[in-house]
Amino acid sequence: MDDINTITDRLSADRDASDDELKILIDAEKSDRLRELAARRRMEYYGLDVYTRGLIEFTNYCKNNCLYCGIRAGNSDQKRYRLSKDDILACCREGYELGFRTFVLQGGEDLYYTDSMICGIVSSIKSGYPDCAVTLSLGEKERESYQSFFDAGADRYLLRHETADEEHYGKLHPESMSLKNRKRCLFDLKEIGYQVGSGFMVGSPYQTLDNLVSDLRFLQELMPDMIGIGPFIPHENTPFGGFERGSLKRTLNLISILRLMFPYALIPATTALGTIHPLGREMGIKAGANVVMPNLSPVGVRKLYSLYDDKICTGEEAAECRGCLERRVQTAGYRLTVDIGNVKRGL
Ligand code: SAM
Ligand code: FES
Repeated sequence: MDDINTITDRLSADRDASDDELKILIDAEKSDRLRELAARRRMEYYGLDVYTRGLIEFTNYCKNNCLYCGIRAGNSDQKRYRLSKDDILACCREGYELGFRTFVLQGGEDLYYTDSMICGIVSSIKSGYPDCAVTLSLGEKERESYQSFFDAGADRYLLRHETADEEHYGKLHPESMSLKNRKRCLFDLKEIGYQVGSGFMVGSPYQTLDNLVSDLRFLQELMPDMIGIGPFIPHENTPFGGFERGSLKRTLNLISILRLMFPYALIPATTALGTIHPLGREMGIKAGANVVMPNLSPVGVRKLYSLYDDKICTGEEAAECRGCLERRVQTAGYRLTVDIGNVKRGL
């Protein structure tokens, strides 16, 4: 087997590597070359720009019971909240003034919000802020629902596949959920015309290196515009409360690998990465990430969107969070831009 630097050079040139080579890079202790080539590739596509998305976590009700997630239906200790359309529009107003040109509406799978309510929210945001993109992250829906949100003006959809291995998927989710349906959703979204985001957790319980290679292979099939990855972090009131957090090093290696395999992709430095290390997001940006997603939700409900323990940014106002991230991006040597931040497929 070639050494790590030779494998890295080949991944960079071919945008692909063998399964065994990918496993070596995912686990690499010395990854200077991987970081360097990922930073160079990102510079070719996106320069120093880091895009910002205003994240509005509008409901923590969820009908699902994913074993890793703090807002799972089975967590009866979780206090629940929902934002009204007016609340959401107020977040957008504040966000627009702060320079956000993308709003991400994320929530649990909450059937209280009918398709027509979601369409009403999307079309109000689009008519109030025609120069902004609306991203939805509402989980699995029927194709008709995705189509109606798109027709109402939604531009993008985030739905992580979580793991591309059937057996592993079964260990993370209840029997009522299936990888097959998750994939069906992702391909429907793509066909409808959304810019699609997928991704996975790093270090989720029972995950193997082979599983991570399957994740990369699935992404090669889907070719999503956005790829969100972050470390798994346990939540005490879930069946996975006693498991270890995902590794920082492995997450950073995977960000760099993703940048080399999918040079065009929008890759966030996630809140989960900032939670496992005080400088996690800066490190993520240096490793190849080019998006940050500060929280725009009202401070009063932030702590309640508790997917995992110790989540950061739950006490800050939107303006503080944005300012904080702007400084962090600068420290990493990049610049936060006021831009709708569409994908650059071209090169
Ligand atoms: N319901 C939507 C969905 O399923 O896509 C959006 C909300 S869901 C809570 C958003 C993401 O949070 C999931 O895709 C998952 O990867 C991540 N997440 C949930 N629990 C987590 C945990 N314990 N550690 C790290 N990430 C977690
Ligand atoms: Fe939220 Fe720093 S990004 S406080």
